Amino acid sequence: MEDLTPRRESLDPIEIASRDEIAAVQLEHMKWSLRHAYDNVPHYQASFDAAGVHPDDLHSLADLAKFPFTVKTDLRDNYPFGMFAVPRAQVKRIHASSGTTGQPTVVGYTARDLDTWASVVARSLRAAGLREGDVLHNAYGYGLFTGGLGIHLGADKLGLSTVPISGGMTQRQVRLIEDFGATGITVTPSYALSIIDEYAEQGLDPRKSPLKVGIFGAEPWTNAMRREIEDAFDMHAVDIYGLSEVMGPGVANECVETKDGLHIWEDHFYPEIIDPETGEVLPDGELGELVFTSLTKEAFPIIRYRTRDLTRLLPGTARSMRRMEKVTGRSDDMIILRGVNVFPTQIEEQLMAVPALAPHFQLELNRVGHKDEMRVKVEPLPEMVSASESAGRELAAKVKQVVGVTVKVDVELPGGVARSQGKAVRIVDNRPKE
Ligand code: DLL
Repeated sequence: MEDLTPRRESLDPIEIASRDEIAAVQLEHMKWSLRHAYDNVPHYQASFDAAGVHPDDLHSLADLAKFPFTVKTDLRDNYPFGMFAVPRAQVKRIHASSGTTGQPTVVGYTARDLDTWASVVARSLRAAGLREGDVLHNAYGYGLFTGGLGIHLGADKLGLSTVPISGGMTQRQVRLIEDFGATGITVTPSYALSIIDEYAEQGLDPRKSPLKVGIFGAEPWTNAMRREIEDAFDMHAVDIYGLSEVMGPGVANECVETKDGLHIWEDHFYPEIIDPETGEVLPDGELGELVFTSLTKEAFPIIRYRTRDLTRLLPGTARSMRRMEKVTGRSDDMIILRGVNVFPTQIEEQLMAVPALAPHFQLELNRVGHKDEMRVKVEPLPEMVSASESAGRELAAKVKQVVGVTVKVDVELPGGVARSQGKAVRIVDNRPKE
């Protein structure tokens, strides 16, 4: 694989500034952001007042812990524009969640917010090894989802030649990667697997594709999956993280030269890790729930937003800004199976270690009698169908040994596991609702 390390002169100076400089910028902007939220959003005024705190009470970054959390239901309760801090006419872009699980959550951006977003995404794409003139195949969905349009903003800023293909029509994905000579691809890791399958379908070798780097996110994925994808395409695979409530893609990104977790663009987004049970702030290095405070957003300031994503904060390496470890999973996706906590990523890791199985999987939860049962649906590689049974046993044994739970493994025929065109549905819960 080619060395794609960006030149040091091409970085934003703050990326490699001293910790003191970064902290000074953070404190100044945090004071502004708290005041902006308090003065302009009735929800924040009410929640700060109820907690007995005022923006003037923030004298150090650690004082942030005195302020109340914001959760998804706060956004829903203020549907559609109640959390906006500027007059509606200054909101130049509106995105929203699909709303499949309830009231959609709506987020907005001023012209300056869009410019900030473009800058952090440009920084992310550059950290991934892309530079002006590269052809970017952007297969994140365009539309209300922040993935497609968010990446697009940053790609324009970095001077890439962007192909706004969006998700779906997988045959055409392969054709255009090849015909347009894409050197970078932005896509969910699960949809990347469907694209790899399509290469085989068309009798093409993905290792011969023009791609040099893939930038994968919007869902959890493991280092084992990274190796799988890097090997399939003979390219670098780096992780991009973000969420609509905080900005969209580009809150944090891995550097191609180290691939050791995602540098959080801390001059715009202030991270904390809390104990999800008690809400207490945990020291760097400890695993807990990631919480973000926006430092510069105008239209939709967000204070101490509980992401439900589980990770830990680590010191900077390739950049001065702190890293977050690859996300283990969302607390909502944690399965408690007969008392053992299981995340889909743990199953993914074991699956990748069984050579005869393809990397696609889905977990099905059923209630059998009074007990919960988990079925892991997988499929063999097309040339390994005859080894299905032993591969299934091997996976069940690994899951038992490493994760500590007994699961049933259903090895389907090739193509039998549901494919994703965006975020994969990893868990199908058939248990009766209580
Ligand atoms: O998924 C933004 C995004 C688009 C990020 C494209 C990266 C690439 P939402 O739809 O609001 O926004 O979903 C946010 O997705 O809280 C995580 O649970 C999950 N997520 C996003 N990136 C990662 C990642 C976009 N790299 C939610 N690893 C977040 C694990 C991720 N989970």
